[in-house]
Amino acid sequence: MGTQALPLLGDREFEQICALMQQVSGIRLGQAKKPLVASRLLKRLRSLDLSAYSDYVALLARPDQDEERRTVVDLLTTNETFFFREAAHFDFLRDALARFQGRELKVWSAACSSGEEVYTLAMVLAETLGKRIDWNILGTDLCRSALKAAAVAVYPVERARNLPQPLLHRYCLQGVGEQAGRLQIGPELRARARFGCLNLIEPLPAALGRFHVIFLRNALIYFDEAGKRDIVGRLLPALEPGGLLFVGHSEGLHGLGLPIRAVSPAVYQHSAP
Ligand SMILES: C[S@@+](CC[C@H](N)C(=O)[O-])C[C@H]1O[C@@H](n2cnc3c(N)ncnc32)[C@H](O)[C@@H]1O
Repeated sequence: MGTQALPLLGDREFEQICALMQQVSGIRLGQAKKPLVASRLLKRLRSLDLSAYSDYVALLARPDQDEERRTVVDLLTTNETFFFREAAHFDFLRDALARFQGRELKVWSAACSSGEEVYTLAMVLAETLGKRIDWNILGTDLCRSALKAAAVAVYPVERARNLPQPLLHRYCLQGVGEQAGRLQIGPELRARARFGCLNLIEPLPAALGRFHVIFLRNALIYFDEAGKRDIVGRLLPALEPGGLLFVGHSEGLHGLGLPIRAVSPAVYQHSAP
């Protein structure tokens, strides 16, 4: 049996990949991410039958390789997420929704990854608002493979360990046969959710509309202060006055000079008219 030497990712190639990633997504990959970048791109090299990262970087530089540049971004985004992540946020939201007076509630999960956050929100809204108020949720992300998974809404059952049993039984379908060990979010909640590709570092599409609640959690962590200010400043016009913005618990927005006020840990209210 023959052996094949693993290609090495050189500093120059790594820097070029980092530059591409930053240009397309705004994400800065530090030196510490080099092994991760090498391992995530290795499969891609193999499937393109390339033996060196320098060949891959040369391919990425070609003007006709937009699709491959998007693939790199898909491969290098960190999509970790799970149901009821940072659960205190959903308790806060439940209380806030009890006071909601409108007829329609619109929620946006602006870095939704593979959809667990969207469907957690959907369960909380279904339980709190039921059919009393019309509600819907938009999930957006830059990563196309994550968005595909979100739309299909099939997850390994282990990923549902934080899901309270009553919600699991009420809103999820348990896979049988070939689908054993998986669950799918039921049609009632899937019908309330839609998904689309949206890059947080680009201007918002004019047709996006306005939301009463925006979740922007665990994406700002990749940006410096100026990047955070830019992104949140761009999102705020899409948040109703008085609307709520949720960020990750490690992503404070203090001191950025934005028209928001803190109302709970990592929850802000839009204070602009
Ligand atoms: C760690 S996941 C967070 C998922 C979920 N919000 C949560 O808290 O569990 C971060 C997500 O941000 C997305 N992301 C990173 N940069 C982005 C950008 N410029 N535009 C849109 N999404 C981006 C990634 O693709 C990834 O799915």
